[in-house]
Amino acid sequence: MTVTFRPLLTSLGLSAALLSSASVQALEVDKAIEYRQSALRVMAFQTGPLGDMVQGDIDYDAEDFALRANNLASLAHLPWEAFIEGSLQNDDHGIATEAMAVIADNRDDFISRQETLVDETDTLAQMANDGAEFDELRRQMGTVVDTCRGCHDNYRDN
Ligand code: HEC
Repeated sequence: MTVTFRPLLTSLGLSAALLSSASVQALEVDKAIEYRQSALRVMAFQTGPLGDMVQGDIDYDAEDFALRANNLASLAHLPWEAFIEGSLQNDDHGIATEAMAVIADNRDDFISRQETLVDETDTLAQMANDGAEFDELRRQMGTVVDTCRGCHDNYRDN
């Protein structure tokens, strides 16, 4: 999916037409990479305590678990629109990114993994909201983390 940030520029009172097309392109890639990395870090911040609770590293608190599971389900939609064309490794933009070039050759699989994360985090949030047992939540959290790992194993260079 290709995303432009022109509506954002316009809403800030800036005219994209004043910028040369080369600098608009550079700005988009720069902002997109920064945005998606930030969104992924926010996602990880919510995932951490959920993982710690299911592993017994911190005490399980049903209310906190449900709050974070719902946060994660909302966040799981966010990073993906910023994997724009020209923003991967080897795309000659000079910005540090762990997004491997092979994403471009496997767009369908990359998108399907995003959808799986959205679905599995929705399920986790729903289960927590419905007062599921700890063991069930632990299993579902395992599925969520496997979804993170599966994508990283294929598409994140770290
Ligand atoms: C669809 C694939 C995919 C899924 C699913 C996914 N990630 Fe990632 N993740 C990536 C890619 C690609 C990068 C590298 C992004 C970059 O550097 O531009 C990344 C980077 C990150 C980073 C580093 C951000 C930074 O630059 O500081 C964190 C943290 C992260 N992911 C956490 C998670 C967590 C937690 C989950 C699951 C809840 C998850 N990711 C699920 C693909 C995915």
